[in-house]
Amino acid sequence: MKRLTLAGTAAQMTDISMQDLIIRRPDDWHLHLRDGDMLEAVLPYSSAHFSRAIIMPNLVPPVTDCASANAYRARIEKALPKGHDFTPLMTLYLTETTDADDVVAGFESGVIRAVKLYPAGATTNSQSGVRDMEKVYPVLERMAQAGVPLCVHGEVTDPDVDIFDREAVFIERVLEPTRRRFPTLRIVMEHITTQEGVAYVRDGAEGIGGTITTHHLIINRNAILVGGIRPHYYCLPIAKRESHRLALREAATSGNARFFLGTDSAPHLDPAKESACGCAGVFSSINTMACLAHVFEQEDALDQLEAFASLNGPGFYRLPVNENTMRLTRRETPVNLPDKIETKSGAVTVFDPMFPIYWDVDAKA
Ligand code: NCD
Ligand code: ZN
Repeated sequence: MKRLTLAGTAAQMTDISMQDLIIRRPDDWHLHLRDGDMLEAVLPYSSAHFSRAIIMPNLVPPVTDCASANAYRARIEKALPKGHDFTPLMTLYLTETTDADDVVAGFESGVIRAVKLYPAGATTNSQSGVRDMEKVYPVLERMAQAGVPLCVHGEVTDPDVDIFDREAVFIERVLEPTRRRFPTLRIVMEHITTQEGVAYVRDGAEGIGGTITTHHLIINRNAILVGGIRPHYYCLPIAKRESHRLALREAATSGNARFFLGTDSAPHLDPAKESACGCAGVFSSINTMACLAHVFEQEDALDQLEAFASLNGPGFYRLPVNENTMRLTRRETPVNLPDKIETKSGAVTVFDPMFPIYWDVDAKA
């Protein structure tokens, strides 16, 4: 068996028919766990594979202060299956009335790890988000001083801007001006979906990172629209044309430390997706690592999977990398994964990558 050990990392790989890849345990730098029945149903899939996750605060009502973040963390910890070792990294939902003292104190005491900017109306539960960026300048200034990362949903909401252009326009109109005004602010451009997003993160100033989802590496907009409308591929930012997907693949598999995994696994009950006005969100925590192994294998970049899923994120967030490992094994025949999971309130459809999955994940390696 040929084994490749990468300097300074845990990644090992054997070749051809029965590949066996061992990487440091991954983290998910953008995750929606929801609350109640949904939390209980989806959390075990994240905690089975990931050591930590940045938990999105877009609950109803949103998590806007450290007291609510602490209470939410306690609900997540309570819902954790026995034996799962998983640390939720909490975030605050930025509003025009966010208290900068609360943010800085929460960051310094480890209650929160980041603050999330949702432009009001950009996505699911973003109504309480920011309408006028100038109103949050005082908070951003304090965050820049204290080193609190700002996670950004990078889409403008101007009705005159085409939905496929909203990310690129956001960079120009909002992101770059904000960065210039607060050059030391650490920014994660979340779930990038465009060549412009890739270029901005790759070539931009220091202190900028970008998360990439699993599904945006796999689908382009045809998946949503060709041969019938497929609501389970509808998410925000919406998948773009093929050239953008290829740019994302190149970025994710490049090893560049600025790019890291954020699944944006965002479960909604099936009736809320399969509707005349369906919700945005793809549920992928359950098969993300297997799908990523497939993608990295296709790109002949299995040796970069560990950087993307396990090393670059902690690097950006200034956290230690995980010491334990995960084994991914390529089988001769496809592995079985469920099409749906059940919650006490109904079913949630799992992301279908439209290819058979051959990779088996053993997170206790
Ligand atoms: C997310 C959700 O459902 O909370 N939906 C999505 O399509 N990604 C919100 C978000 O991250 O935009
Ligand atoms: Zn999200």
